[in-house]
Amino acid sequence: MKAVLVVFAIVVTGIFLGLQQDRSFQESKERGAVIYQDFCVTCHLPTGEGVPEVYPPLANSDYLLTNKTASIRGIKFGQRGPMVVNGKTYDNTMMPLGLEDEEIADVMNFILTSWGNATDTLVTAEEVAAVGPR
Ligand code: HEC
Repeated sequence: MKAVLVVFAIVVTGIFLGLQQDRSFQESKERGAVIYQDFCVTCHLPTGEGVPEVYPPLANSDYLLTNKTASIRGIKFGQRGPMVVNGKTYDNTMMPLGLEDEEIADVMNFILTSWGNATDTLVTAEEVAAVGPR
């Protein structure tokens, strides 16, 4: 009987923590959407498509989806010089945007899950804090 109760308690705790995680991911993405409108949309556009030759896309960007740390670094410290996104070379400058670590985590969670992009790993403020300049 005791064993059954212990298993039950573990399962309930697991479900509870899972729901908490979902909720904080959802809230982070919602804050990220607002930050995107304020800080990113002028260049990367509402559709995340960017502008050919000038501003790289975020929608379906192989760079973003496979270089999470480098993407965080670019948003945090700025990004300049040649970079290849989906086989096209961009050689431009993105200035640092002056966002807090938490805001960078939120906007990452938004862009990683918008326009067909998909991830199930949440970016946290701690992860952003750990990313230093190149
Ligand atoms: C003034 C225009 C501008 C703004 C505003 C801007 N970016 Fe960028 N972004 C760029 C440019 C230009 C590059 C490519 C830089 C290079 O060529 O090295 C880039 C590159 C990137 C990349 C890596 C390449 C890719 O397409 O996956 C990410 C991720 C990114 N930006 C996200 C953001 C986010 C998030 C914001 C808002 C918080 C933002 N950018 C705001 C111009 C901008």
